[in-house]
Formats: sequence, C-alpha cells, structure tokens
Amino acid sequence: MTYTSSTQEVPEHGAVPRHLAIIMDGNGRWARSRLLPRIAGHRRGLEAVRATVENCAERGIEFLTLFAFSSENWRRPAEEVALLIQLFQSALTSEAERLHRAGVRLKIVGDVRRFGRKIGLLIEQAEKLTAQNRGLTLTIAANYGGRWDILQALSRLLAAGTTHGSIDEAALAAHLAMSYAPEPDLFIRTGGEQRISNFLLWQLAYSELYFSDTLWPDFDAAALDLAIASYRSRERRFGRTSEQVAALADPAKRAEVA
Ligand code: IPE
Ligand code: IPE
Ligand code: MG
Repeated sequence: MTYTSSTQEVPEHGAVPRHLAIIMDGNGRWARSRLLPRIAGHRRGLEAVRATVENCAERGIEFLTLFAFSSENWRRPAEEVALLIQLFQSALTSEAERLHRAGVRLKIVGDVRRFGRKIGLLIEQAEKLTAQNRGLTLTIAANYGGRWDILQALSRLLAAGTTHGSIDEAALAAHLAMSYAPEPDLFIRTGGEQRISNFLLWQLAYSELYFSDTLWPDFDAAALDLAIASYRSRERRFGRTSEQVAALADPAKRAEVA
C-alpha cells in the first residue's frame, strides 16, 4: 500500500491517530531523581514500551513508532552506549515471541549495521516472525536519524537510475525507511524537551506535536489518553482555512468546497 504525501493531498484522519510517533525521553532523569544509574531508567523505559504497545493496540492505533536510539546517541559515554545496545539485544530476544502472540508486526528502522551481526540477525528473525501479523505495526527507530533517512532515500533513488528531473515527493517518500506507513498524525515527546532531535524530519511535516513533562518511564495509559484528547481538540487544516475545514465536515456544504 502506498500512502499520500500530506503536502500533496490531504490525508484521511480520524478521532484516534492512525500513526503515533514518540520520542521516549527522560529515562536518565527518572533514574537520577532516584539516585539510580541511568541504565535503570532505560530498563524501566522498556516496561513503559510494553505498556504503550498494549495501550495503543487497545485504542485502535495502527502504527506506533518509537525512537529508541538516535544517530547522535553514539556521543554518549561508551558505557551507557554499550548498556543500551545490550538492552536492545536482550529486548529483541525476549519480546519477539510476545509481540508475535499479540499479533504485532515489528519493524526496525535505522542504520542497524553499526550494531553488528548478532543484532542484525535478531532483527531479521523478529521481523520475519511477525511480518504477516495484521495487528499494530510497531516500528523501533534505532541508530536512526531523519537526515540519514532522507540521504539514504536519495542515494537509493539515484542508484535505481532516477534522473534529476523525475525526482518528486512521491518518489522520495517511497524510498524512506518507513515507506510502509502513513505519515504520523500525532507526535509525542516526553521528558519536557520541545525539539525533534533529528527524528522523522520528512514525515512530521503536518503531524500534530504534543510535548509532555512526564518522564518516559512514567508514561502510562492516562498520559497517552491526555495526548490523544489533545489531538482530538486540534483542527488539522493542512493549509486550508478554518471555514473550509468546517464546511467539509458539514454534509450540506461539503459539495461546495470539496
Ligand atoms: C531517552 O532518555 C532514551 C535514549 C535517548 C536512549 P534519556 O537517556 O535521553 O534521558 P534524559 O533525557 O537524560 O533524562
Ligand atoms: C532523543 O533523545 C532520542 C531518543 C529518545 C532515542 P535525546 O535525549 O538523545 O535528545 P537530545 O539530545 O536531548 O536532543
Ligand atoms: Mg534525553
């Protein structure tokens, strides 16, 4: 299935976001406030991931994308990086079956070669195991950067022989790592920071942005519902006027504006 580009065509959108993308931030501060090592925060963060996957599936969200490790996170102390990679590896091993049983389709996006052969194989196995599942599509972004994504898409376009004049939005979007998903309707960042940190740069063009002070390990069903309630209260205009949007929702006037 191919999805339309929000800058080319107004996407369909409903009361629940079809695609939710989250920057899971605040693990380190959660741990520090308890005088625990940062990795303890990451471990608790994994528990919040499990709960969020379940909560999203229950609410009818079709795509959940979680930023787990950015292309810039290699700048952290070597010990933290090593522990994060260990945690990623053990989660891939322990969660694949559980996700499969829950009907979740798992995808990993990012330049995962840098994690080495063992993790590469685990990713392949987990993706293959869950590929036919029809429930929630869970994407984990690992060694992912929005700029990396746009550049690798361009490189693949050029390698496929696409010529200068024929590169358009649809052609580029088809080569992005997440070409299998619609653009996010809702973006959440926990942990109080209000920035994108090189996440899905292309696809966030028309996403609703929601920033929460809740630290990721504390992000629960109630926090998710607050974000969805905020999303519901937004008027998504995609460049149009408020009057046009209102008229489109009114069957009597729809024909005039559509
Ligand atoms: C997010 O939590 C997890 C990763 C980036 C891997 P942080 O580790 O960034 O937590 P804070 O921002 O230091 O609290
Ligand atoms: C963003 O969090 C990346 C992930 C959650 C994986 P960071 O904590 O790394 O972001 P910055 O450095 O504060 O922007
Ligand atoms: Mg952080």
